[in-house]
Amino acid sequence: MAFNIAIDGPAGAGKSTIAKTLAAQMGFVYVDTGAMYRAMAYYFLQQGIAKEDEAAITAAVDGADVTIRYEDGAQQVYLNGENVTGFLRTEQVGNMASNTSVYPAVRRKLVALQQKLAETTDVIMDGRDIGTCVLPDAQVKIYLTASVETRAKRRFDELVAKGGTPDLKQIEADIEERDYRDMHREMSPLVQAKDAVLVDSSALGIDEVVAEIRAVVKRKL
Ligand code: DC
Repeated sequence: MAFNIAIDGPAGAGKSTIAKTLAAQMGFVYVDTGAMYRAMAYYFLQQGIAKEDEAAITAAVDGADVTIRYEDGAQQVYLNGENVTGFLRTEQVGNMASNTSVYPAVRRKLVALQQKLAETTDVIMDGRDIGTCVLPDAQVKIYLTASVETRAKRRFDELVAKGGTPDLKQIEADIEERDYRDMHREMSPLVQAKDAVLVDSSALGIDEVVAEIRAVVKRKL
């Protein structure tokens, strides 16, 4: 059986940075499930479907073939044969993903794909429902979080580094709204699994978080 590490937590907690670093150190495959929800959301945007239109989204799910490939060790997301990885990390796509990931038809399709990936491969998978729903038997479960202020400041710095002039208060408000939606949806809301280890990265650097998680993994190996 494969060894699976599940990392869940809210937007901006550092899940992907930490999971990528751990995967590289341990020789595991990193699976970014948020990118899969984003690829679906990108498809709905392309089709001009409104985020509230559950019937249209449910009908459209079958037309979106999302597949994952690894090229030079990095996850690439393909939508109907086209590599869409470079289009997924915008606020527009992120918000559409948060809104459309509430629909059962979307979740059912992507959860099945995620479970298949983890069946035969040692993975570090990050998302919102990995420890609670996708991989309930994962050997290691981490709930990685940080305060809203810390997460907003990290996002702010990222945008400034890209030459933008972001509004910190607006970023905080967006993060709070996204947290609320991800934590209060009916199907598989973001919640800490009972057997997950809580790691708060507010006052920790990347290396410290990685070391903390490696210590948890070591106890399970
Ligand atoms: O991690 P991210 O920001 O790329 O995720 C985008 C959205 O996708 C997030 O707001 C909620 C949804 N998502 C989810 O519902 N379940 C997951 N396992 C991963 C992401």
